[in-house]
Amino acid sequence: MRRLFVTTALPYANGKFHIGHIMEYIQADIWVRFQRMQGNLVHFVCADDAHGAPIMIAAEKAGITPQEFVANISSGRKPYLDGFHISFDNWHSTDGAENHALAKQIYLQLQAAGLIEVREIEQFFDPEKGMFLPDRFIKGECPSCGAKDQYGDSCESCGAVYSPTEVKNPYSALSGSTPILKKSDHYFFKLSDPRCVSFLSEWTQGLSADGRTRLQPEVLNKIKEWFVTDESGKSGLGDWDISRDAPYFGIEIPNAPGKYFYVWLDAPIGYLASLKNYLDKEEIQQSVPGAVAFESFLADPSVEQYHFIGKDITYFHTLFWPAMLHFSGRKTPSSIFVHGFITVSGEKMSKSRGTGIDPLKYLSLGMNPEWLRYYLAAKLSARVEDVDFNPQDFMLRVNSDLVGKYINIASRAANFIHKQFNAQLGHVMPNGEQLLQQLQAAAPSISRLYEEREFAKALRDIMALADQVNEFVDQNKPWELAKKEDAIVELHAVCTTCLEAFRYLSIYLKPVLPALCAQVETFLKCPPLVFADVNTRLGAGHVINDYKHLIQRVDEKMLDKLFELPETLESKPTPMEKSQKSKPASAQVAPSQQPIEGEENLPSPGGEPIASTIGIEEFSKIDLRIAQIISCETVEGSTKLLRLMLDVGEGRTRQVFSGIASVYKPEDLVGKLTVMVANLAPRKMKFGVSEGMVLAASQADEKSEPGIYILHPWNGAKPGMRIH
Ligand code: MSP
Ligand code: ZN
Repeated sequence: MRRLFVTTALPYANGKFHIGHIMEYIQADIWVRFQRMQGNLVHFVCADDAHGAPIMIAAEKAGITPQEFVANISSGRKPYLDGFHISFDNWHSTDGAENHALAKQIYLQLQAAGLIEVREIEQFFDPEKGMFLPDRFIKGECPSCGAKDQYGDSCESCGAVYSPTEVKNPYSALSGSTPILKKSDHYFFKLSDPRCVSFLSEWTQGLSADGRTRLQPEVLNKIKEWFVTDESGKSGLGDWDISRDAPYFGIEIPNAPGKYFYVWLDAPIGYLASLKNYLDKEEIQQSVPGAVAFESFLADPSVEQYHFIGKDITYFHTLFWPAMLHFSGRKTPSSIFVHGFITVSGEKMSKSRGTGIDPLKYLSLGMNPEWLRYYLAAKLSARVEDVDFNPQDFMLRVNSDLVGKYINIASRAANFIHKQFNAQLGHVMPNGEQLLQQLQAAAPSISRLYEEREFAKALRDIMALADQVNEFVDQNKPWELAKKEDAIVELHAVCTTCLEAFRYLSIYLKPVLPALCAQVETFLKCPPLVFADVNTRLGAGHVINDYKHLIQRVDEKMLDKLFELPETLESKPTPMEKSQKSKPASAQVAPSQQPIEGEENLPSPGGEPIASTIGIEEFSKIDLRIAQIISCETVEGSTKLLRLMLDVGEGRTRQVFSGIASVYKPEDLVGKLTVMVANLAPRKMKFGVSEGMVLAASQADEKSEPGIYILHPWNGAKPGMRIH
């Protein structure tokens, strides 16, 4: 029996879970459940990451203490975790007593190892608030491109990364005041120490117990970049600033009044704190076979330790964390399992409205959590790649695989067994024997794929087996056997084979579909399935329970609801619509004719509702320019179009076709200024290529109130000027 200590990243306690968190928990949970089904002992723990300036500031805004703030967030976790069947053994907080004690202990051990150094640094200080400002709370102009309102560490406009002191015209995002530079002593973890560098280069390149590389190839590549030494021969690993000045919500540094650990120092220690909080409970020691006291479990060289994390926090987990553990005299993780991000219909998830999936809304709509588990598993691999949630694909996958292939097998066989054979299984068909052996023989390779977190591959293989079982049913046609009087033995054997096969498939799917498989266990009247059960059969004479329908199909309406925005009139296609690339045009009702429930009576300016909110980044993707109409003519063969030649200051003219022939005469337009979209992809039309679009106003339904009005700038605008 292997003994494993497994965690996911500790979520910041400043907000609710989003779908990215749930994806991480599902990935880890599938792996953990697989390990448990192998008979391994797993302690699977997590905790809220409670500390840091953002949480302190949010609590202050809410008028409560940070402790209260974190407790509120923490109390909302359970519905998500239970809802998606995440089987953590313990949920704790980095503000717990265990973490305070462990963080101080580890720090003192690092200090004793000579790896802590105090250095005076200059930092921005908010004189009004009386506090040093975290990078994210300093705003100003980008030193590189001059974009306004950029954060103190990087520019969202040009992507430059810089230090807060380089920002031009800085201001505090907390008070609006101009920060001043102030000196302060900071504590550093000397990652550049040769001992650290050599330990980390070895550790990161190392192999884990089973001979595989400890880190994924993509992660190793990233680390290589971080290790690069500069021209002066200095290691790429900089010392790490681990202290913050009061006021700060965190853990006080021993013998350093007014200094606190930077949140990222005590956060990973929270893994250990949660484990300790769990193992030190008396009832756990008594009830969990194999559970031993925290210290001896953690120090045991045979115990494996794994952390599931997202790609954004790789640096902390593959460099800082192993170094902290090693130089404080502790065992280091066996591996760090890094995953990519979840996107929705190809868009990066954002916490603002409109994108992403609200996990609680998903559940409250009655959507089955195991649909999501199955779908994500079908896309997850051991690689650090992003995973896209595509609603159309989701529906197809779940309905065709889960319902159409897997559940179908049970529903096809169960009724006959009940009606004709008193719910008793019989003997397996001779050719069914072959099929069952094939299913059994797949166990080692499916296990290996689960072990390696190649869930997509595992499910693909399992579904291929399900296909074979369905083929077997199609070949033997139980529905026809049932009509023949002399085929009763054969019918019994066919259906028995199906249910035995269904049981094997259920074993393989159980890490992904724990609740569904619990129902299957009831239906098959068998003890909780584990992987070793592939070596056994239910056997002739085994009596099963009534078959109740095990899982619903995904209903498209649910997905529409999931992506419906309650507060806005949605006019852009929902991710569901977007994913239906081939939807016939006739099915696409114009937004103005598509009232949203309960909102039919709201005024629709210009005959159509205001489109959903976008951020400035999205707007700035559209390059609008002042254009001069150099020439204009009618288009032979078209009554609608005019051909415009436009100058947008590029030293050439652009040809643009515009559907304004019914309202403007060419000679009235020549020489005038107007507005065009200058970065629209060129479009090939019957009459030539159109290299942009002229903007014009009209009522949504041009027939009800005809009229098209092109735009004309105020005096002074010049061709080529951008419209911001
Ligand atoms: N508090 C730190 C982690 C400390 S671990 C000692 C943190 N918290 S977080 O709430 O921002 O993120 C928690 C986990 O969710 C991280 O592993 C992060 O990578 C993951 N995800 C955040 N957004 C995600 C997606 N869009 N997709 C998948 N996972 C993502 O970082
Ligand atoms: Zn910039």
